[in-house]
Amino acid sequence: MLRLLLAAPFAVLAMPAHAATGETVNPWVALAYLVAGVFFILALRGLSSPATSRTGNRFGMVGMLIAVVTTLVTHDIANLVEILIAIAIGGLIGVTIARRIAMTAMPELVAGFHSLVGLAAVLVGWAAYLNPGAFDLLDPGGAIDPVSKVEMGLGIAIGAITFSGSVIAFLKLSGRMSGSPILLPARHIINLGTLAAILVLTAFFAHTPGAEANLPFIVALTVAAFAIGFLLIIPIGGADMPVVVSMLNSYSGWAAAAMGFTLGNSAMIITGALVGSSGAILSYIMCRAMNRSFLSVIAGGFGADAGGGGDGEAREQRPYKQGSADDAAFMLEQAEKVIVIPGYGMAVAQAQHTLREMTDILEEKGVEVKFAIHPVAGRMPGHMNVLLAEANVSYDKVFELEDINSEFAQADVAFIIGANDVVNPAAKTDKSSPIYGMPVFDVDKAKQVFFIKRSMGGVGYAGVDNDVFYMDQTMMLLADAKKMVEEIVKALD
Ligand code: TAP
Repeated sequence: MLRLLLAAPFAVLAMPAHAATGETVNPWVALAYLVAGVFFILALRGLSSPATSRTGNRFGMVGMLIAVVTTLVTHDIANLVEILIAIAIGGLIGVTIARRIAMTAMPELVAGFHSLVGLAAVLVGWAAYLNPGAFDLLDPGGAIDPVSKVEMGLGIAIGAITFSGSVIAFLKLSGRMSGSPILLPARHIINLGTLAAILVLTAFFAHTPGAEANLPFIVALTVAAFAIGFLLIIPIGGADMPVVVSMLNSYSGWAAAAMGFTLGNSAMIITGALVGSSGAILSYIMCRAMNRSFLSVIAGGFGADAGGGGDGEAREQRPYKQGSADDAAFMLEQAEKVIVIPGYGMAVAQAQHTLREMTDILEEKGVEVKFAIHPVAGRMPGHMNVLLAEANVSYDKVFELEDINSEFAQADVAFIIGANDVVNPAAKTDKSSPIYGMPVFDVDKAKQVFFIKRSMGGVGYAGVDNDVFYMDQTMMLLADAKKMVEEIVKALD
């Protein structure tokens, strides 16, 4: 949520320091920004659990309101009406998009918003460069301090990388651009060379006095940064994009923090650092849960040679057992303990409400039902938690992988609905598998496994076969998840 909040008020928070009524010395302004920072920290804390996430969101909104209002009332503003109109237009667009967006389109929406944060950082950096006096950046000799120029250069560079990277992520996620990796020859050398060029250009920009003399350096570093954002993201496959979006979220935070230093605005520094570090931690957690290297994500090209989003190779036909909704209903009724494992297919089918109906009926019949959530089930962090919360599944029935994995040995039924990779034992046994090393649910320990998917041909995100389909205790329930669960509910009734 912080990442979305960051984009809109960027322009307000980044108002010229010289217009402040003693912003850097007024202790009340510093205190108000500090209070806003505390609200942001409380927001992040709240967002760490679905049960407290709404409160976390409210904390974030209050924090941002304090930061924006403080900035507005402590500045001598000539164009307040224009600012309020801009806020109203932006707010209206935000509310409209937020109300209309489907949960499955959330990653592309976040990518789109990040591009705005990156662009805002570039524009603020350029505004500070073109009119340094208005930003109180001139030293007594009438030149911009080299340290401010380094901060400005880095802010523009990180902002431009975030912008072009997020635009590519948005295009790939929304299907407007092919999700396949585009691999340029010697791309790592090109990327390293461009990054080195950005650093060298920033150094020249900082140390060349005179606006006319250093103009070519700031232009070149802006262009190189836009290019590297593009180059880093095109080799990444569409299905790997959520990790990239989280990484770009982190970059956007660092861009804001760099601009905060340039403008001497502590609220931007605090917010930027919180967004930057939380995005980096989230990316790290996602990479660990997917058994990917964190460094390869930062360096770009992640997933390009790793089978992510693969189409699946031709597979040998192996015998499997197929069942019907009536069979499943009969066995579910006899069970004492059922563990439900939802995955991406449940989101595609929007089967969460019917699933809750099914589990309600089972509980009425005395069956214990728990939900097991893998950290990377679905296509974005917390995907399954959000869908289950939407269907009013009680939080105390929802368990993380490490808390429930040992319980499969006591479960009568592992009910897999639209999940695949997160239950694939190849992650534990097959070193050549793209998912090797990813922690997975031990569904093979359950007495019965029900596996809902549409066909035997379909593969999960990693594009690999799954031995669970062919186990003795597995019954394949081949249909759209919502349709199959509706039929099970009918049979249970
Ligand atoms: P997947 O392994 O992607 O499997 C999805 C399953 O759902 C497939 O078996 C598919 O088979 C089935 N399915 C699709 N539509 C369906 C429908 N309408 N009805 C019934 N079944 C349907 O899902 P998962 O187990 O949730 O694993 C997530 C994967 O995504 C992991 O490999 C993870 O690394 C990756 N990933 C996750 C994230 C985050 S942050 N969550 C980010 C990037 C990548 P059919 O086509 O045969 O129906």
